[in-house]
Amino acid sequence: MARILTGIQSTGTPHLGNILGAIMPGIELSKQKDNEAFFFIADLHSLTQIKDGNQLRKNTYATAATWLAFGFDTSTNVFYRQSDVAAEVCQLAWFLNCYTPFPMLSNAHSFKDKSQKLSDVNAGLFTYPVLMAADIIGYDADYVPVGKDQQQHLEMTKDIASSFNHIHGETFVLPEGLYDKRVMIVPGTDGQKMSKSYNNFIDIFLSDKDLRKQIMKIETDSTPIEEPKNCESCNAFALYALLADEVQIAKMKTNYATPGYGYGHAKQALFELICEKFKTERARFNELMENTDELDRQLAIGAEKAKAVISGVVAKVKSKTGY
Ligand code: AMP
Ligand code: TRP
Repeated sequence: MARILTGIQSTGTPHLGNILGAIMPGIELSKQKDNEAFFFIADLHSLTQIKDGNQLRKNTYATAATWLAFGFDTSTNVFYRQSDVAAEVCQLAWFLNCYTPFPMLSNAHSFKDKSQKLSDVNAGLFTYPVLMAADIIGYDADYVPVGKDQQQHLEMTKDIASSFNHIHGETFVLPEGLYDKRVMIVPGTDGQKMSKSYNNFIDIFLSDKDLRKQIMKIETDSTPIEEPKNCESCNAFALYALLADEVQIAKMKTNYATPGYGYGHAKQALFELICEKFKTERARFNELMENTDELDRQLAIGAEKAKAVISGVVAKVKSKTGY
């Protein structure tokens, strides 16, 4: 049995890019035979950037509700909030800090990048990769599915684990990163990569009215309605094609080639497709957001299962290091 583990930062309500690029593939992976998934909300990592407790909690619920709405099975997998195992994971992170060369952290791309962009350059940002290593090593994870941008963090995790193993003998499982080769990049309303920071995202959990408004904002060129349009260069078509089946895509291509079919029609079709395709998930998300006790209940079950595993690893580390 392979244990796959990944952390999801809770920076807001997951958008369509997160859903198609990470959540749906993650759930698929968790369903494969012989896989056991440990998926958690990295809310301690979020504190490096978000200092508003209400915001932090709301983001965590929205992230949890999205995974559950999309059908992540918490009975066969482990779904938890990082802060619910803070005592164990932060303890392990301290031990790992003492096996992490300082220059490795100061050369990390992500730290360099953030320290240029953010006004609050705190030590948490600096040691972020060590907490991430504890998240992974603490659960004997075999595979870690992440975006390409996390590859360096994964390599640091392996280096830290090997350095501990080298000194104290086989202790940690060395994890392998799984980088999605399909590199599906979901475009945003302006055609750049969909991202919260570019404010070009589509939040499928908005009310019909607000969702429609967001979709109508998709930027298109100024080809007049009476002329045929090029679907290949259109953002609305690109999004439509990611969600539609082959028959629908072929029909939409014909529509673009037909004079009189406008971008407004195409955006309306995209709106209707999103509503139809994610009908159950949208309803379930709203139900869960109205019932955060249910989210807390599910996360508490996950936290118990996670704690049982990481406590064993922490005990092993203490014994090996002489405590
Ligand atoms: P982020 O919110 O950028 O930390 O991303 C969380 C997860 O969603 C990562 O696995 C990303 O690779 C994925 N993701 C974010 N934006 C997109 C996008 N526009 N297209 C595809 N995947 C995305
Ligand atoms: N740093 C990851 C990101 O930004 C989130 C994360 C935290 C994570 N801990 C992890 C991912 C452990 C995988 C494994 O996406």
